[in-house]
Amino acid sequence: MTTEQMVSEIECLKKEKNAVIMAHYYVDDDVQDVADYIGDSFFLSRKATEIDADIIVLCGVRFMGESAKVLNPDKKVLIPDIGADCPMAHMAEVDEVARMRREYEDLAVVCYVNSTAELKAVSDVCVTSANALKIVSRLPQKNIFFIPDQNLAHYIADQLPEKHFIFNDGYCHVHHGLTVEQIQRAQREHPDAQLCVHPECKPEVTALADYVGSTSGIINYVSNSDVKEFIIATEVGVMYELKKKNPDKTFYAVSVMQVCPNMKKITMEKLLAALKEEQPEVILSEDLMVNAKTPMLNMLELAK
Ligand code: 13P
Ligand code: SF4
Repeated sequence: MTTEQMVSEIECLKKEKNAVIMAHYYVDDDVQDVADYIGDSFFLSRKATEIDADIIVLCGVRFMGESAKVLNPDKKVLIPDIGADCPMAHMAEVDEVARMRREYEDLAVVCYVNSTAELKAVSDVCVTSANALKIVSRLPQKNIFFIPDQNLAHYIADQLPEKHFIFNDGYCHVHHGLTVEQIQRAQREHPDAQLCVHPECKPEVTALADYVGSTSGIINYVSNSDVKEFIIATEVGVMYELKKKNPDKTFYAVSVMQVCPNMKKITMEKLLAALKEEQPEVILSEDLMVNAKTPMLNMLELAK
């Protein structure tokens, strides 16, 4: 089947089933093209509360589908490949959260949305890279247990010296793997380029950046800049939107390793099959959805 045939079948099925397709910037270009909404994790979470459809197809990794389901327990939420799972989402322990709560009386458990519903359910508030600084700064608690990402935690902690951070050792292999040497080599090769870095990168990498922010933050920064060349230190899928919005600008990757293999599991073929069969569906227990919803709603409120 050609891409055009798949696109037209997807469009028909969307209408027939009253379905909406949401996609993250890291999925393949052709999948982004058929999406009704494309955005960063925060946009996708907020948008999920505004969707008027019977089915949401989340083209991204599993935690994104879980977030959409938690915010829409009565809707059917599909992920084209249920095995598209972010490894970092699992890199914290529910027991460790309980231990921290016993140890610190004045504690907020802050959970990056790149986490399982089980971790969200034992947290006080969720954050994304787009709103973590604002939200943590607004929390009344002094002690912050930030799960699961160590790098986003360090990036925020450095800007909030009044808070006491307790770090967890999770990381994203795609961003954590980028090194200072790779960045400096790219800077030597492209001396006129500015460097944009996602806060999931190591502190020594974010320290070199002209701009640090979420995928949407990077897109906005580049689109509003007069500079013509940029080195992009995040997953390469974001290049598609960057180039679409800025045809006169040039973008360089830092390394061939900037590819999230789980995001790339979402293909047009699987998207079409998911819409046809209404499978694979995100299924979570009632209790889990109720408990994970509060920190998600706290995020949406505190991010206003
Ligand atoms: P954003 O929230 O910046 O889109 O990032 C999501 C993600 O998975 C980063 O690795
Ligand atoms: Fe997870 Fe990293 Fe992939 Fe984002 S890029 S989904 S954090 S593995």
